Amino acid sequence: MKNIYSNIFSFNKKTLNKSIVNLKKGNVVSLPTETVYGLAGNAYSKKSINKIYKLKKRPKVNPLIVHFLNYKSAENDVIFNDDFFRLYKKFCPGPITFVLKKKSKSKIQPNASANLNTVAIRFPNHKIVKSVLKKINFPLAMPSANLSSRISPVSAEDVADEFKRKIKLIINGGKPKIGIESTVIDLTEKPRILRPGIIGPEIINKIIKKKLKILKKRSKLRSPGMLKRHYSPGIPMILNQKKSNKKHAFITFGSRYKNYKNYFNLSKKSDLKEAASNLYRIFRKIKKLRFKKIYVVRIPNKGVGIAINDKLKRAAK
Ligand code: TXA
Ligand code: MG
Repeated sequence: MKNIYSNIFSFNKKTLNKSIVNLKKGNVVSLPTETVYGLAGNAYSKKSINKIYKLKKRPKVNPLIVHFLNYKSAENDVIFNDDFFRLYKKFCPGPITFVLKKKSKSKIQPNASANLNTVAIRFPNHKIVKSVLKKINFPLAMPSANLSSRISPVSAEDVADEFKRKIKLIINGGKPKIGIESTVIDLTEKPRILRPGIIGPEIINKIIKKKLKILKKRSKLRSPGMLKRHYSPGIPMILNQKKSNKKHAFITFGSRYKNYKNYFNLSKKSDLKEAASNLYRIFRKIKKLRFKKIYVVRIPNKGVGIAINDKLKRAAK
């Protein structure tokens, strides 16, 4: 396909270098990860962090995730514990983010984590971000590359459509393998999941050998700045529907749904992982086709389904 975007670049030595030069200067660049595309800046630079918040129009109370190559490189910034190491061994690099206590000598900009005494850290598993992280001596603050409360991007074009020419450098890494954001787990007290993702509570319980604290529906303990309305295509969305008329977009799941023009199947083979990886792409497609309403079938609320339902509920708010 012809590249009609002048700010999207394929990955090679030259664009790797260009990314690094820009990051060192305090600029932000968009990089692909295995979950969604991110908006990356130097986590040790106040200027970079301010740029990220401004570009995303993100409330300052909503802290960013700081990305490292491995735990060694995060040693000076956060305090590890046993649960962290158990989960790190099993899942990292990968789609899981840990909230940990910040060390007083940490160089992470206080405004990157909304002036909290904790930091969310992640070790992304994607060739492109890893090769950038290998060549710089600072971690990357990297929220999803979308305007605050909007749908996370799952292609370089999504990022370009979202920010137009405001981002000068977007590295194209194709379709992310996972397609939804990382699981966020708070390990500063009794472990609890703040944001559900591909790595679900069942498997985490097994690894840390203790029961996770379950978040109550209206708990104040949620992630700071976590917005109720989020991932939103900006179109009314009605959940748990059995059928839809021709006028509405209908998001389906499983083989019993036909291939009508207004039907968008998350996974024909009822595979929840596949459904997660298609979710945001389908949201954007429906939006582009200018449907006025979206109906959604019931999605099983187990495993990855928990994360999908969380996104759907927030999008429907
Ligand atoms: O998959 C991902 O995590 C993507 C890719 C680009 O790495 N990043 C991402 O970042 O989703 P963002 O900024 O869109 O989401 C960060 C989430 C928010 O829900 C925020 O509230 C939570 O992490 N968070 C960050 N720092 C925190 C902290 N210190 N305590 C509690 N929650 C925190
Ligand atoms: Mg986000």
